[in-house]
Amino acid sequence: MSVASSKGFAFTAPFTLTTLIYMVGCASAPSTVVSLNPATPPIPRSVADGVFTNNQAVRGQQSFERTCEACHRTREFRGSAFQQEWSGRPLGDLLQLLVSTMPPNDPGFLKLSEYRDIVSYLLKQNGYPSGATELPADISALMEVHFELRGEV
Ligand code: HEC
Repeated sequence: MSVASSKGFAFTAPFTLTTLIYMVGCASAPSTVVSLNPATPPIPRSVADGVFTNNQAVRGQQSFERTCEACHRTREFRGSAFQQEWSGRPLGDLLQLLVSTMPPNDPGFLKLSEYRDIVSYLLKQNGYPSGATELPADISALMEVHFELRGEV
């Protein structure tokens, strides 16, 4: 059985491969135009692009109140001083900083997704728009999203 099927495979494989190459070759020219249609949304580049959802910001507020308000007030992280400090830097740096230093007595106490939600909350507090897609709990993805100044809120 295995001999027969491997023979069968050896026999049909070149045909299948040729057919595939033929099909890909035929398809590539006309589909180039079609694939230019923006089927996938553009990758957000800035915190002004609606990079978090409202629900995330609400969850982030709850985590902030539970874990951070022992030492901080939200107003420390809103407005032009905070934005100027972060302007031009990747959002991944902020997430990385929180994960690796906060709270000081127990860095990494929260889940990555909870720190990520706190970042969403801080963005919302700074007047950046929410959007339809959640901010990912992925530091390297957030290295592609840059902070920019928004001004007083
Ligand atoms: C036990 C107290 C404590 C807790 C709890 C705490 N922090 Fe901090 N945090 C500090 C101290 C102290 C600093 C350093 C202050 C400074 O240098 O201005 C700091 C600094 C920061 C900074 C500024 C870092 C910088 O370099 O600008 C951020 C942002 C921050 N904390 C966010 C958080 C968040 C978010 C949480 C909750 C997950 C949190 N902190 C929990 C004490 C705390």
